[in-house]
Amino acid sequence: MTDISTSTLWWEKRTHTCGSLSPKDVGCSVILMGWVHHRRDHGGLVFVDLRDRYGITQIVFAPQAVKSEVAFSAEATSQAMPQEAVSDKSLAFDAITQSHLIRNEWVLAVRGQVVERPEGTINTKIATGGIEIQCVEVKILNSALTPIFPIEDQVEVSEEIRLQYRFLDLRRPIMRDRLVLRHQIALETRRYLDRLNFLEIETPLLIKNTPEGAREYVVPSRVNPGKFFVLPQSPQLLKQICMISGLDRYFQIAKCFRDEDLRADRQPEFTQIDLEMSFITEHDIYEVGEGLIQALFENILHQSIQFLPKLSYQMAIDRYGSDKPDLRYELPLVHVEAIAQKSTFKVFRDVLEQQGMIQAINAKGGAVFSRKDLDELTSLVSKWGAKGMAWFRVKDGRLDSNIVKYFEPSVQSELMQHLNAEEGDLLLFCADTPKVVQSALGALRQELAQRLGMLKKGPQWALTWVVDFPCFEKDEHGKFMAVNHPFTSPKQEDLHWLDDDPLKAQARAYDMILNGVEIGGGSIRIHNAQVQSKVFKILNISPEEAERNFGFLLKALSYGAPPHGGMAFGLDRLVMLLSGASSIRDVIAFPKTAKAVCLMTGAPSILDPTFLEELNLKLDLEK
Ligand code: AMO
Repeated sequence: MTDISTSTLWWEKRTHTCGSLSPKDVGCSVILMGWVHHRRDHGGLVFVDLRDRYGITQIVFAPQAVKSEVAFSAEATSQAMPQEAVSDKSLAFDAITQSHLIRNEWVLAVRGQVVERPEGTINTKIATGGIEIQCVEVKILNSALTPIFPIEDQVEVSEEIRLQYRFLDLRRPIMRDRLVLRHQIALETRRYLDRLNFLEIETPLLIKNTPEGAREYVVPSRVNPGKFFVLPQSPQLLKQICMISGLDRYFQIAKCFRDEDLRADRQPEFTQIDLEMSFITEHDIYEVGEGLIQALFENILHQSIQFLPKLSYQMAIDRYGSDKPDLRYELPLVHVEAIAQKSTFKVFRDVLEQQGMIQAINAKGGAVFSRKDLDELTSLVSKWGAKGMAWFRVKDGRLDSNIVKYFEPSVQSELMQHLNAEEGDLLLFCADTPKVVQSALGALRQELAQRLGMLKKGPQWALTWVVDFPCFEKDEHGKFMAVNHPFTSPKQEDLHWLDDDPLKAQARAYDMILNGVEIGGGSIRIHNAQVQSKVFKILNISPEEAERNFGFLLKALSYGAPPHGGMAFGLDRLVMLLSGASSIRDVIAFPKTAKAVCLMTGAPSILDPTFLEELNLKLDLEK
């Protein structure tokens, strides 16, 4: 056998990365490998910026450079390279000739000398900007088709194309940085929870279907014909079982799957930082949860962050129209029913007669909004079911609007006083059922903050807990639904409401909200089999159905379950906020589209009929 010495194959091992060299390395002989980021031809001299995950280093190809080789041809090589270059794999060029040949995104190995950059050419923007490599030898490891979009932070290309060519998209420094941040957050989380005695315990992905709220993804079992696994919506019940097993403190960076309508902060497959603790109350969870977020901010962003006072669910809905309000700005919703009662405006009077709700927002300085702006805002609230949006501008000390005639001057001044209205303000009103008013004005509040530039003026972070959720709500068919999930404990003092009036029972549940995004949530759990059965009964889950779906939990609860509780953070949402991205798709290496499709691989795809047969599945796509 031939012994291949390392010196023969110098291009197989790099000595440094493209982000590591600095003036203290001047004089060293180095081997770098990476992608051609840019090539600049200055007559006799060619400059190449060579890029890898760690940074960019400038390579200089001077006419005296010694030699170079073409590594091998691939399909792309033959398309991108002149024929004579690929005809002989080891054809020697001089480096300068090759440097003229190479194009963006080709893969090179470069051997050369670190030299100081001449005066006036130092680039202070990049870490390696004080040096460059005088190329002695170059090896083209691969060529590349012209990239479909430039490998830059800002690209003018649709997200669809970026997702199709994710391998190129992830080469962009901004995407790399987001994945680095994600890694740091996961690592810091593990360190923090380990310090607090949490055990990282993996739970299975193929589990029994245990409805938690969202629709589940289903996996057929070949060896058990007619039977199916589902993918977990969260490890909820298994982490509770871990507590019943005495493991005391569990955590997992867990993949979760939900077949639900997707938005910018929702993916069908996402990741939770999931934790559970025994012999605790909600105050212990607050301490651990707050400590984790503070550790991430301090150790990764090098910023300190404080929690705002906790907000009750009722207060959040009433004042901000949302159970996850963005508190970087105030813009409160204000009840105006008592004053509206004094107007002759039919819309308001009709709503009041039907015991509806009327609330208003004072958009400070919004009188400058045009008719077109007002139309856009009206169409926004209509998406939430509002039939219209009344408005008044404050002009010359008075209210101005197409409906002002229905409001006596005294009613007008009362409104202005109540809403703290000043010259240049815009008052926006919605009258409907409480649900419509709150959701419409909640959405309007967010839009107004954007349009009025409040996000730029306000604090960068607003972090809080929303607490005191109700246990149950009724859906549109009058059926009881769990506001959190069915394993959430009612407050001790509210247990009697389970028999008397379940809608009055409050839950020991809590959500953590950062900048209007729910970044985590959890609860103290029911650890008593009778209370759990009672909750199932309220939710109209029959004892047989409870036994079928949750029998293992009820059994475990009867074998000495400790008081326990926990929470889960949405890792993707945390990384999105901490990196400044606007969608969780930008912080997931291989995300799916809003239609739950992976554009790079084409998943989901049809299966070979024989495969379906093996799984005992027959498709009926007619329906
Ligand atoms: P919950 O359903 O509130 O609680 O989920 C916890 C956190 O996970 C994130 N999240 C999502 N992120 C991206 N895409 C989604 N589709 C998605 N759904 C949820 C949110 C949310 O706050 N088992 C309970 C936790 C517990 O009680 O301990 C649970 O899953 O940031």
